[in-house]
Amino acid sequence: MSICHPLNSRTFFRFLAWWIFFSCFPGLISSAVVTLRSIEIFQKHELIVNPTVYFVCKGENRTVLPDVTKTGVVYDFKGEESWQPLTQLESKKCKRCGFYEKDTIKADDIFAEWEFCSSDFKAPSGKYTLFKEKELNVTFHCPECTSLPAASNTATEKHDDDNRLHVAIVILISVAISTVTIIALVAAYKYWQKKKRQQEQARFLKLFEDGDDIEDELGLGTVI
Ligand SMILES: *[C@@H]1O[C@H](CO)[C@@H](O)[C@H](O)[C@H]1NC(C)=O
Ligand SMILES: *[C@@H]1O[C@H](CO)[C@@H](O)[C@H](O)[C@H]1NC(C)=O
Repeated sequence: MSICHPLNSRTFFRFLAWWIFFSCFPGLISSAVVTLRSIEIFQKHELIVNPTVYFVCKGENRTVLPDVTKTGVVYDFKGEESWQPLTQLESKKCKRCGFYEKDTIKADDIFAEWEFCSSDFKAPSGKYTLFKEKELNVTFHCPECTSLPAASNTATEKHDDDNRLHVAIVILISVAISTVTIIALVAAYKYWQKKKRQQEQARFLKLFEDGDDIEDELGLGTVI
C-alpha cells in the first residue's frame, strides 16, 4: 500500500507538523519597533532644576529623553536619535509603560502610565497619540504594528480566520485518522478472511482424510 511507504509518510508528517506549528503560532515570530515622534509636557513636577523625563516599560531599561526640559514646547523627533527606538511591541501582548520625571527626594513623578498595545496604532499612518490633560501629549510611530497578525481594525476578522483554520486542521486530522483506521480495518478483515478460508480448507481436507479412514475402517471402499 502506497500510504504505508516509510519515506512518503515521514515527509508527509513532517510537513503536517510544521504547517500546524506555523498556523497556530503566527504571533510568536512577529514584533514591531516603536519610535517616539513628538512629545510635549504641560507641567513639571520638580520646581527648581530642569526635569529629567524618561520612558520605561515594565521589565525593560529606561530611556531618558535628554532634550525634553521645557513645558509647552513640542519636541519633534526623526526616529533615528541615539536613544531610539523606545521599545518593541508584539502582536497580542500589551506592555505596561509610562513617562516619568526623576525626583531627587521622593519617588519619581508619573506623567502617564498605560497599557501600550500594537493594536493602538492606526493604519495607514502607523501613528498613535497619547494625550493626558495637564500632563503630556505624545505621538508614537510604528508602521509595522498595523500589519502584525492581530492589528486593530482587522482583529475580529483575523480571529475568525484563526478559528476557521483550527477547524480545518481538526477536520484534516480527523480525516487522516479515519482513513488510517478504515485501511487498518479493511486489512485486518481481509487477513481474517484469508485465515478463515485457510482454516476451512484445512478442516475440509482433514474431513476428507478422516472420511477415507472411516471408509477404510468400515471396509466400504471395496463395496463402492
Ligand atoms: C539593559 O541595559 C543593560 C546595560 O546597559 C544591557 O546589558 C541589557 O541587555 C539591557 N536590557 C534590555 C532588555 O535591553
Ligand atoms: C498632540 O500632538 C500632536 C502632534 O504634535 C498634534 O497633532 C495634536 O494636535 C496634539 N494634541 C493636543 C490635544 O494637543
